[in-house]
Amino acid sequence: MPLVDIEFSTNGCDLPSDVRDFLREAYLRVGQFVRKSPIRVSGFAPSGFATVYRSLRAIVEAKLAPGNSFCEWGSGFGVAASLAAMLKFRAHGIEIEKGLVDASKQLADDFGLPVEFVHGSFIPPGRGAHADEACAKNNAECFGLVSDADSAYRKLGLEPHEFDLFFAYPWPGEEQAIENLFAHYAAEGALLLTYNQYHSVRLRRKVGERSGGP
Ligand SMILES: C[S@@+](CC[C@H](N)C(=O)[O-])C[C@H]1O[C@@H](n2cnc3c(N)ncnc32)[C@H](O)[C@@H]1O
Repeated sequence: MPLVDIEFSTNGCDLPSDVRDFLREAYLRVGQFVRKSPIRVSGFAPSGFATVYRSLRAIVEAKLAPGNSFCEWGSGFGVAASLAAMLKFRAHGIEIEKGLVDASKQLADDFGLPVEFVHGSFIPPGRGAHADEACAKNNAECFGLVSDADSAYRKLGLEPHEFDLFFAYPWPGEEQAIENLFAHYAAEGALLLTYNQYHSVRLRRKVGERSGGP
């Protein structure tokens, strides 16, 4: 199934005060976590949260998502999922590092945000091959791309094709693997928002073979 890029404008809107308060606390906790557990040890690096918020808001305002079910793949501190909950998405996060799952639950709870975080891999069980293949093609070192036997999706009670919007901040070299997973498992019409190392975002939709053709 082909993916098509969707142009959208984030307009640099002002952040509402509840979002500013939430992000201030999130950055404080992320800073403390990173000092204790550097990026090279944890595999966690935060995305640009204000940019992510503005992107999610633009998606909502332009009614681009086919529904309101959201999943953050590799949710880290769970900030994108929490921001999605603030924008009324049914928000979920899947994170492989237990300490980060606990921290994201605490942060969302402290702000009364209804987000479901689970510990596990966003790669469905036995399906690491899609990811491995992409890494091999890119000649990349993809240390996070493991699937787990105890499926995170089973814990959530949702399958990948039931989400309308995914967000991921992949490590350099893992972008293709994330794209392959989305192309393979997401429903037609679903969206993939990615943040990248150059601090910009990209939005793609999965479309049917005919709509993606020339
Ligand atoms: C670059 S960080 C981004 C964190 C967060 N999404 C953000 O935007 O701030 C990537 C995160 O993905 C997690 N991760 C990597 N591979 C994973 C996998 N297979 N399943 C679940 N989480 C994974 C890492 O532990 C890390 O927290």
